[in-house]
Amino acid sequence: MQAVVQRAAGARVGRQRAVAILAAVAILVAGCATEPADTTGNPAVVPAPADLPRLDPIRVEQGAEMYRAFCATCHGIDLAGSPDWKVPNPDGSLTPPPQDSTGHTWHHSDQVLIDLIANGSDFAQSRMPTFGDTLSESDILAILEYLKSNWGEQERAYQWEATSQQR
Ligand code: HEC
Repeated sequence: MQAVVQRAAGARVGRQRAVAILAAVAILVAGCATEPADTTGNPAVVPAPADLPRLDPIRVEQGAEMYRAFCATCHGIDLAGSPDWKVPNPDGSLTPPPQDSTGHTWHHSDQVLIDLIANGSDFAQSRMPTFGDTLSESDILAILEYLKSNWGEQERAYQWEATSQQR
């Protein structure tokens, strides 16, 4: 019980830190600038919704293979991204952010992520390649399935909420 409470508290601190980072990066990443502003500065912990979909292990494995082929060179085989991803380059461009719970990919709905990965963001100095000619929407969804398998329950719940709202 104690451990559960501590883990929950840790997740909350992590989330606050992630939101603070998001706020800082939102100024730089146009894709993030369209996110609704957090008025409290302290988002409520989202309980895992009853309809949080179970991940399909076969899709996760397919996504893992494509992630290793197309994404890992920049975002890391361990999804950790660049160690100094919070510090912009001198020209204003960014280094690859993590794709695990420590990044902020999980702040975006499936729809936003599919569009970003296929077509790129409208961030002028973006160094993220576009994959619309290489990967189908189904491929990208498999990669997202793999990323989700690496997120904590809170991050999954938050991202599922964002995805559900856009349906
Ligand atoms: C050549 C390096 C490179 C490759 C390869 C790459 N990315 Fe990126 N990615 C970046 C950089 C740099 C950013 C930071 C924003 C920018 O420059 O547009 C980024 C940003 C992102 C974001 C936005 C993160 C956020 O928090 O908003 C997602 C999601 C993402 N990448 C997923 C992927 C996926 C999935 C693949 C493989 C299909 C991939 N990337 C391949 C460099 C790369």
